[in-house]
Amino acid sequence: MVLAVRLAGEMEKTTRFHQGEEMTASVENLSLQVHGDDRGSLIALENGHNLPFDVKRVYYIFGTKAGVPRGFHAHRKLKQLLIAVSGSVTVKTEHGGKIETHLLNRPDEGLLIEGLVWREMHDFSPDCVLTVLADEYYHESDYIRDYTVFKQEDAT
Ligand code: TYD
Repeated sequence: MVLAVRLAGEMEKTTRFHQGEEMTASVENLSLQVHGDDRGSLIALENGHNLPFDVKRVYYIFGTKAGVPRGFHAHRKLKQLLIAVSGSVTVKTEHGGKIETHLLNRPDEGLLIEGLVWREMHDFSPDCVLTVLADEYYHESDYIRDYTVFKQEDAT
């Protein structure tokens, strides 16, 4: 029940972002409700119900190589929910001059990243499957891959 309240709060905030011209950059942890019984566990994610945005795209990263990081980019407007459905990965984020590291190692925990946030993924475990839900289709034009450009835009 606590989870439902938290997610409802996220949805209200996201709706406000949709209505304005600007999207506030943010990074937050989300707990995902688990339907568990003696057979195991199940998580269901639904637009308009327990997701903070409507999903247009899902991709997953797997088969990563030891010691090889990924990411190293920001998006200007994209909203993404990252979930390590298997294994673990450390996600480093930066926005507004704030640098954080987030260990994703549970299928019932997501990392919600919205707006102009630099992100890097490090230390993938060999069994990691990092699933990413996004509110937009893949547009290379929304990527900032140059850290210097990101820092300039982050400062304005
Ligand atoms: P890339 O952006 O390098 O992945 P990451 O930064 O998350 O490690 O993407 C790898 C390749 O996959 C690149 O050729 C672009 C392509 N791609 C898509 O076609 N669709 C997508 O949704 C994403 C995320 C990547």
